[in-house]
Amino acid sequence: MRAFLKMKRLIEFFILFVLAPLCARCVNLSLNGDVLGLIVFKAAVQDPKLKLASWNEDDDSPCNWTGVQCSPRSKRVIELNLNGFSLSGRLGRGLFQLEFLQRLSLSNNNLTGNISPNFARVDNLQVIDLSGNNFSGVVSDDFFRQCRSLRVVSLANNKFSGKIPDSLSLCGSLISVNFSSNQFSGSLPSGIWSFSGLRSLDLSDNALLGEIPKVIENLYNLRTLNLSKNQFSGHIPDGIGSCLLLRSIDLSENSFSGNLPQTMQKLVLCSNLILGRNLFDGDVPEWVGEMKSLETLDFSRNNFTGRIPTTIENLQYLKVLNLSSNGFTDSFPESVMKCQSLLALDLSHNLIMGNLPEIGSLRKLQILSLSGNYFVGSLPKTIGDLKALSILDLSGNQLNETIPVAIGGAVSLIELKLDGNFLRGEIPFSIAHCSSLTTLFISHNNITGPIPAALAKLSYLQNVDLSFNNLNGTLPKQLSNLPNLLVFNISHNNFKGELPGGGFFNTISPSSVTGNPSLCGSVVNKSCPSVLPKPIVLNPNSTSDSISSSLPPSNNHKRNRNILSISALVAIGAAAFIIIGVISITILNLRVQSPTSSSSAAALALSVGDDFSNSSSPDANSGKLVVLSGELDFSTGAHALLNKDCELGRGGFGAVYHTILRDGHSVAIKKLTVSSLVKSQEDFEREVRKFGIVRHQNLVALEGYYWTPSLQLLIYEFVSGGSLYRLLHEASDDNVLSWNERFDIILGTAKGLAHLHQSNTIHYNIKSSNILIDRNGQPKVGDYGLARLLPMLDRYVLSSKIQSALGYMAPEFTCRTVKITEKCDVYGFGILILEVVTGKRPVEYMEDDVAVLSDMVREAVEEGRAEECVDRNLRGSFPMEEAVPVLKLGLICTSHVPSNRPDMREMVKILEMIKCPSELQEELG
Ligand SMILES: *[C@@H]1O[C@H](CO)[C@@H](O)[C@H](O)[C@H]1NC(C)=O
Ligand SMILES: *[C@@H]1O[C@H](CO)[C@@H](O)[C@H](O)[C@H]1NC(C)=O
Ligand SMILES: *[C@@H]1O[C@H](CO)[C@@H](O)[C@H](O)[C@H]1NC(C)=O
Ligand SMILES: *[C@@H]1O[C@H](CO)[C@@H](O)[C@H](O)[C@H]1NC(C)=O
Ligand SMILES: *[C@@H]1O[C@H](CO)[C@@H](O)[C@H](O)[C@H]1NC(C)=O
Ligand SMILES: *[C@@H]1O[C@H](CO)[C@@H](O)[C@H](O)[C@H]1NC(C)=O
Ligand SMILES: *[C@@H]1O[C@H](CO)[C@@H](O)[C@H](O)[C@H]1NC(C)=O
Repeated sequence: MRAFLKMKRLIEFFILFVLAPLCARCVNLSLNGDVLGLIVFKAAVQDPKLKLASWNEDDDSPCNWTGVQCSPRSKRVIELNLNGFSLSGRLGRGLFQLEFLQRLSLSNNNLTGNISPNFARVDNLQVIDLSGNNFSGVVSDDFFRQCRSLRVVSLANNKFSGKIPDSLSLCGSLISVNFSSNQFSGSLPSGIWSFSGLRSLDLSDNALLGEIPKVIENLYNLRTLNLSKNQFSGHIPDGIGSCLLLRSIDLSENSFSGNLPQTMQKLVLCSNLILGRNLFDGDVPEWVGEMKSLETLDFSRNNFTGRIPTTIENLQYLKVLNLSSNGFTDSFPESVMKCQSLLALDLSHNLIMGNLPEIGSLRKLQILSLSGNYFVGSLPKTIGDLKALSILDLSGNQLNETIPVAIGGAVSLIELKLDGNFLRGEIPFSIAHCSSLTTLFISHNNITGPIPAALAKLSYLQNVDLSFNNLNGTLPKQLSNLPNLLVFNISHNNFKGELPGGGFFNTISPSSVTGNPSLCGSVVNKSCPSVLPKPIVLNPNSTSDSISSSLPPSNNHKRNRNILSISALVAIGAAAFIIIGVISITILNLRVQSPTSSSSAAALALSVGDDFSNSSSPDANSGKLVVLSGELDFSTGAHALLNKDCELGRGGFGAVYHTILRDGHSVAIKKLTVSSLVKSQEDFEREVRKFGIVRHQNLVALEGYYWTPSLQLLIYEFVSGGSLYRLLHEASDDNVLSWNERFDIILGTAKGLAHLHQSNTIHYNIKSSNILIDRNGQPKVGDYGLARLLPMLDRYVLSSKIQSALGYMAPEFTCRTVKITEKCDVYGFGILILEVVTGKRPVEYMEDDVAVLSDMVREAVEEGRAEECVDRNLRGSFPMEEAVPVLKLGLICTSHVPSNRPDMREMVKILEMIKCPSELQEELG
């Protein structure tokens, strides 16, 4: 049966394609040609997505096939819609057999080759849509021979060339013609201007010539006229005013000239008038305000002159006003402010002068370009009211004031271009609020000051040009975190210090950084002696607290060392002077008002040496002693010496002396450096009491304090075992801390810090010289809370006070944008863990190199060599299953992201868990 059908088809093919051309009548004798025509079409194309799978040559009727529609009555194919079927190949002759076809759409495929002139012989065709293919060649003049029924034709987006066939003039029923985006050339068939039913004519993007004839007035049904991107010329004829239904006129990118015919003011339905890139000239007529439906008015790139007509204000629907690149003069047209619907305003490249207007009333504005004019003064103060503004281009004017802070209110900005003005002042920090910025051009101005570190928050930034200004300071390190940077041009400024490393900055082009004489880094071929920010070491070999110095961080390490050794000399000299002067602070005349009260006060008289200049003032001679613990006994006429011989150490906050009171009670007295404190007595007392009441076995207890305007003392319990620093780095070989002692020190310190944090006190200054070891080997954290005594809890002050805490300082101290929390102590504690386990200092200075402990350990742990890091003095006698996790814990604490560090309470738990299993084993064993 199938074989028979196949045979039948073969015979039909034979009749159709061999006999038919000889004998057209014969065809009608056979079945209708629809199935065969479509199968022949299918055979000629490639169908990679099998869209035509339902087209089965064995079917008697094609009416159920995909894309095929039949007339219900005749059952003949009247519509073929294969839009977007991904078909390629040539158009065979099959489709000519669909003699009842009315609508044909082959749009958006990949069909190639010529279209055959036979096509239009299909008498009934009303719609031909071949748009979006790869058809090419000339459309033969026969193509439109029989087009009386044709209403819609689209050949858009192909590669047709040559003239548009004259036969098109015969298609008097056309309502839509779209030949856009081909390579048609020459002049138009004249008949086109007489299609009174024509609603849409799109001939854009070809190479067509000629003028629009006056008879365009016949096209009184025309709604859309698009002749853009051709070579049309001449004036717009008066006749266009008769096309009263016109809604969109696009004549852009041609060679039209002259001015606009006055008849156009009748086109009150017209919403788009696009005349850009022509040769129009003269004034824009005032009657343009009569075209009340206008939404888009684009006169850009012509030769219009004069002032922008004030009647613009009548255009209440206007969304896009583009008058760029003309010769408009005068000042900014205030009337534009009344066009409340404006989304885009482009007046760039004209000759407009004066101040920028306050533009805040145009709340919907998304694009504002006024570049290339002669505007002076400042940016509009109301710029921050434009919450929808995404593009602001004021480049190439004469703006000569500062960038207003209000710019931060324009939170939707994507592109900000202010280059090529005379802007002064600094880049406002508020720019950090423009979080969508991708483009920031401020080059060629006179901007000063630093790049705000907050710029590094703008993570979408791609193109940044700050070149040719007077910017100075160092480049914020965080800039290297910007993930999308393509260009970052800071050339020709006064930046100094090191280029940020990492990210985009590893591949930044030298031309982007040139012209900054003080900038260093490999890109500018100038090595930076040390990496910033490096903790400053005053004396790498100093045994205890280093002497604090307020030297600013320097990027020249060599020079730094020299300065430091000089400052060390000065310090040593001063110390000698102090010793010679013999500070003898005698505590006299002490009256304990209420020995039982926890804060009994007593007067304390001091006889002091030359180092207190105002020692003769009564204040200095009688101060206030407050005893917090109730145990301090000065009552027996205590006579204490703050003797240089008894100095235990010095730190950022002052020197510490060991003193034995008359009753044999040992205390450590910290003499605060006066210059660091400007607090009043009340403030001082309030703050001291806050941390003075914290009590824990792993915290050095504050027993009292003494206050005069010129001298402040803190009186601590004396811890006899010395500092952890000494035990680790200065102990003799037979006095090495054992593993268990080290672990206890780590755990005890963690407990002390956990308690401190629970009492809402941040230490800020964790380091091994601040951990004291008592007789039982228990650690006690000292020096906590002192930061509270600083005039401002400011990270700069902090870091200068604790900069001697070489290597312990958490990275957020150098980053203005990160909040400093108790996690900075966790960082310091992490470094401390590494120090205790490895026996190495956090930063070791070698001849020409600096070894950073945390980097070293991290590398070793990553390479599986963790045990090699453990202090060699332990001679291998340590449990690996404790040492390795402890090291890893130390590394976790030194994460650069504060929130990634555990808190101290968690640390205590983790440490106890690390210890626990082995204790169990010991018990079991
Ligand atoms: C088309 O398909 C429907 C069911 O899908 C069927 O009932 C009908 O007979 C088919 N028509 C033709 C002409 O094949
Ligand atoms: C269209 O066809 C051409 C050649 O026939 C082929 O190179 C091209 O990739 C096709 N394009 C698409 C979008 O299928
Ligand atoms: C624009 O107009 C000015 C003066 O009207 C004229 O000098 C200039 O040549 C014109 N430009 C063009 C491109 O027509
Ligand atoms: C800015 O320029 C205008 C016009 O030249 C001048 O009047 C004004 O004083 C200038 N402003 C500043 C701050 O220099
Ligand atoms: C830039 O500003 C400085 C003062 O901040 C001024 O001395 C200098 O003349 C300005 N340069 C220009 C080109 O305006
Ligand atoms: C930057 O330059 C200004 C003067 O233009 C100066 O006051 C400021 O101290 C400079 N800042 C730095 C970090 O050099
Ligand atoms: C530090 O001390 C070591 C050994 O005590 C010595 O070799 C080194 O030169 C000292 N370094 C400095 C900067 O004083």
